[in-house]
Amino acid sequence: KESKTQAVPVQSEGAQRLKISIYFATWWALNVIFNIYNKKVLNAFPYPWLTSTLSLACGSAMMLFSWATRLVEAPKTDLDFWKVLFPVAVAHTIGHVAATVSMSKVAVSFTHIIKSAEPAFSVLVSRFLLGETFPVPVYLSLLPIIGGCALAAVTELNFNMVGFMGAMISNLAFVFRNIFSKRGMKGKSVSGMNYYACLSIMSLVILTPFAIAMEGPQMWAAGWQKALAEVGPNVIWWIAAQSVFYHLYNQVSYMSLDQISPLTFSIGNTMKRISVIVSSIIIFHTPVRPVNALGAAIAILGTFLYSQAKA
Ligand code: 3PG
Repeated sequence: KESKTQAVPVQSEGAQRLKISIYFATWWALNVIFNIYNKKVLNAFPYPWLTSTLSLACGSAMMLFSWATRLVEAPKTDLDFWKVLFPVAVAHTIGHVAATVSMSKVAVSFTHIIKSAEPAFSVLVSRFLLGETFPVPVYLSLLPIIGGCALAAVTELNFNMVGFMGAMISNLAFVFRNIFSKRGMKGKSVSGMNYYACLSIMSLVILTPFAIAMEGPQMWAAGWQKALAEVGPNVIWWIAAQSVFYHLYNQVSYMSLDQISPLTFSIGNTMKRISVIVSSIIIFHTPVRPVNALGAAIAILGTFLYSQAKA
């Protein structure tokens, strides 16, 4: 990358910016579409363990197909790579299924408001478990994040404890995923796209037995009959859409993570949540009280202050 920058210095900065803007815009758009279809599916067929497994299965199948047809060059991995990937995959699986369980119980916007507190979890885990210290402004920025989320939670009209805890567990799991993947990706030779593909495959293997234990074929069959009777065959397309878009948005996010710092990534992630919160409120006509919106706005402002303080 460095030698390319040196060869075409003037063009490359503009081109790099354009490339990152395109990554970001694509990432957010794919994420909004995923969130909408995911919620439509969960409303009609409320089995989050199965739907989160299907998302991983679809992504894994897409990537295995791309490797087999040489559309994408398969990564060269060894046992060590998969060993290092294992804790990342465990954290990814927990974070994913917990967010999906959350969205099956509460409004999409509420899950994402709570998920905007991820930076606060990151600081607290780094401080108390890893012994890292931060400048005082970083700690201060946690006050609006935590306060804003708390305000949004206590004023949420359709509050549900499982929905709330799912989003909190997802935050914690994704902090660990990011810590482990930073370690695992150090000096790696696997691209962002292939790294995420391997993560999907391993997560699928981990999640499948738990999905069967938590829900299982009998529940799925009964729920499926009901969904077909109530929604009709369209529900199949919704499941296909949520699965394909889940893979695509994550793939694009890992591809952009290749190009930018984790800090820029987390700012991008917060801005992504704003587009999801606003669009899901409009599409699902989610009732929002002004004080509830104020809590969300304070939390999101807090994550911006956090990124400033960290920068
Ligand atoms: C999931 O299902 O994994 C969550 O929707 C992920 O949320 P995030 O990628 O927006 O953190």
